[in-house]
Amino acid sequence: MDFKKLITAGIVSALGTAFGETSVTEETVFGALELPPDSAMGDYAFPCFKLAKVLHKAPPMIADTLAAAIEGFPGRIESVKGYLNFYIDRALYAGEVVKEVLRAGDRYGGSEEGRGKTVCLDYSSINIAKRFHIGHLPSTVIGNALKNIYAFLGYDTVSINHLGDWGTQFGKMIAAYKMWGDRETVEKGGVDEMVKLYVRFNTEAKTDESLNDKGRAWFKAIEDGNEEALEIFNWFKRVTLADAEKVYEILGVKFDSYAGESFYNDKMEPVIEEVAEKGLLKEDQGARIVDLEEYGMPPFIMLRSDGASLYATRDLAAAKYRHDTYHFDKCLYVVAYQQDLHFKQLFKVMELLGWDWSKGCIHVNFGMVSYEGQALSTREGHIVYLEDLLNTSIQKSLDIINEKTPDLENKEEIARQIGVGAVVYFMLYNNRIKDTDFSWDRALSFDGETGPYAQYTYARSSSVLRKAGTIDAQPDYRALSDPQAQDVVRLLEQFPALVHEAADRNEPSMITRYTAELSKAFNRFYYDIRILDDDAAVRKARVELTEAARQTLGNALGLIGVAAPERM
Ligand code: ARG
Repeated sequence: MDFKKLITAGIVSALGTAFGETSVTEETVFGALELPPDSAMGDYAFPCFKLAKVLHKAPPMIADTLAAAIEGFPGRIESVKGYLNFYIDRALYAGEVVKEVLRAGDRYGGSEEGRGKTVCLDYSSINIAKRFHIGHLPSTVIGNALKNIYAFLGYDTVSINHLGDWGTQFGKMIAAYKMWGDRETVEKGGVDEMVKLYVRFNTEAKTDESLNDKGRAWFKAIEDGNEEALEIFNWFKRVTLADAEKVYEILGVKFDSYAGESFYNDKMEPVIEEVAEKGLLKEDQGARIVDLEEYGMPPFIMLRSDGASLYATRDLAAAKYRHDTYHFDKCLYVVAYQQDLHFKQLFKVMELLGWDWSKGCIHVNFGMVSYEGQALSTREGHIVYLEDLLNTSIQKSLDIINEKTPDLENKEEIARQIGVGAVVYFMLYNNRIKDTDFSWDRALSFDGETGPYAQYTYARSSSVLRKAGTIDAQPDYRALSDPQAQDVVRLLEQFPALVHEAADRNEPSMITRYTAELSKAFNRFYYDIRILDDDAAVRKARVELTEAARQTLGNALGLIGVAAPERM
């Protein structure tokens, strides 16, 4: 039942019967209906102030008359200071919401609004030959959550890992490998071994200038497509990705494309030509740039004076390629706010090029991560590797289980769900632009706004359903009139609008916070109200609400990439 439509129809017809007024349309009334900030002021409110002009009467008088004239509204209508407040019958409201959740099931909260539209998401975007550390976690989990959210709204999604796989450092790495490395060691030691080689190269190059020449020569060899150089370079990539894949696997993150920076080697020239043709390319001390002074920004450098392209050049080519290939409506770049300027410049250049579609390009930026109060710095050795972090979290969760519920079946798997969920949930709890300080105590706490708490609530509701079994009775939704049940119902009803808004703002934390609120509301209901009541009709209604809450909580956790265990 659509209460908003019902109220609209009631108001329009009452305007006719009470005032002989027929010029006010359903659209106008529908659009004017408000959601009161507080449920004590009703479920919907209609302000009568605009009608005063049409009817030449004072708003309170109009509200009084309409309140008496509206027919067929299931509930109570009050006239207060020019407002009509609508209080939907509690039982009816609860019944309608619960039935809708159970009908839609795992699609509850989703929609078809994105049908026929495509969203590209550039996230995680790790760098080759570097360890996957905690600094890449926000991009990875925010991007993954956004992908889930858009897919839930019917969009086609393309997830892209824009690998950092281009730059002079790869020439140095090959040189180092040729001098000191061997296949087996790198194959076994993975990225760590590559990093070691690179560090040694830089140390020795300080005293031996000839090393840098070797590095440059190998980089040129990659650029020229030399077979040996490419073979080693591609193998470095495979080793890095195999390492990263372990983390993606633990997190349940997947990509449709790994087209990284080097993919655009042969796609930049036409773009640079277009920039030149449109009169935007300028020479500046031998470099080719787009002057952005007029827009208060430093120049966008397309080619260095030695002719080398840059990160920015590759991004311009990548945007065009993505547009031509995927015809996206939106292209999201989930990248830290340190790159705010880069994306502002990039988007400005696209606009100057007259690429109309670039309006759909959005920098989804996020804050910095620190770890237990310490800033992360590769140089000072404060690095937290993602794989270690996740494995520690899983181990800590297992310790907690062994202490609290040693007999739990399938302990290892549940520890994995809790451990990984705790980390992901923590990273997605605050507004993405805020800096986050990762803390074990907070992430793994079983009460408060945490993953384990939401998961525990899910497991608890599952356990209630198991105990309830099947109930052979018609639900009596009057049993859901108390404030505890009503709070849950109200949250359930808000979920679809919330998912829509989370996509609109590219803000997965809205979903995370919602799971915390819903968990709190459900737990209050669970503690205060006897769900498995003796009266079968009452029991049925409360069990249905439990099932609806469980379903919605599960859907929400799924969107942010957190598992929902049946038992804990
Ligand atoms: N690899 C880059 C980094 O780690 C992020 C790339 C983001 N994506 C892009 N299209 N620029 O900083």
